[in-house]
Amino acid sequence: MELEKILFKLLSLKGASSLYQPLYGFTISEPQLNQDVSLNAKSFEAMVMRNMTAKIEKFNNRFELIKNFIPVNSNCLDYGCNIGYNAFLISEIEGVSVTGVDKDKKTIPIAELLLEYNSLENINFVRDDCSKYLEWKEDGFYDCIICLLVGHHILNAFSRNLPQSYSELDSISDESKKCLKLFFDLISILKKKSKRFIIQLRLGVNGKHFTEKKMDYSSYKDDFFIDYLNDYFSFSNIIRVPATPYSYASPHPLYIFDS
Ligand SMILES: C[S@@+](CC[C@H](N)C(=O)[O-])C[C@H]1O[C@@H](n2cnc3c(N)ncnc32)[C@H](O)[C@@H]1O
Repeated sequence: MELEKILFKLLSLKGASSLYQPLYGFTISEPQLNQDVSLNAKSFEAMVMRNMTAKIEKFNNRFELIKNFIPVNSNCLDYGCNIGYNAFLISEIEGVSVTGVDKDKKTIPIAELLLEYNSLENINFVRDDCSKYLEWKEDGFYDCIICLLVGHHILNAFSRNLPQSYSELDSISDESKKCLKLFFDLISILKKKSKRFIIQLRLGVNGKHFTEKKMDYSSYKDDFFIDYLNDYFSFSNIIRVPATPYSYASPHPLYIFDS
């Protein structure tokens, strides 16, 4: 698999300049880029370099927080895998097999190219809506599902004014109610289809996403919401793993739910 082919594929991605994840298995140095690729678009090089260097450490830091919760010899699913970086990291765990699913048709071909490039056999990628995939696939039961920074897109309006008590919950807007229902549908399928799932959300940030520069932990209160989820779903165990500002892509905690 030539580097050039992957890079051109990347170029065809809409919004490639904000490519979300690093490319697994790639360590590209600038001289190498100049030599190997007949592209002289400086901005493109800069994008790839940014992608390679700045993000790898942060993604790896975040993965360090969850990797001990992923059992060895397990069957895992990465819900919303993007171009597969976390799925590839999971595949390094002993005896694990991983399926990465993403609904974005532009990300899965890249993940597949990277899979070929890295010659791994314990991963496969599927383009689909994850909920549908889990619902319809008869053998779709997993030891562990990771669902990182996906659920907050569903919670949206609800998350903007995250209730802090049952009385606040009673007076949420109709739009928030709809978001909450969709989110519960997601949790319900994760619970039904896995022994354990690990989620990272971006909750209670006063309507704004965190940026590293403008971190305001005081506006971030998720405790009530997690208790509420537990009241509703009765998990056998929940572990909260605090993230750090240095664990991409947000300083929000990770939650490990045992069904
Ligand atoms: C913010 S990115 C997070 C990527 C990755 N989980 C991470 O944290 O590094 C969200 C990804 O989830 C995907 N996604 C969102 N909803 C999805 C769904 N219902 N089924 C499959 N993929 C989904 C998007 O296409 C996107 O690639």
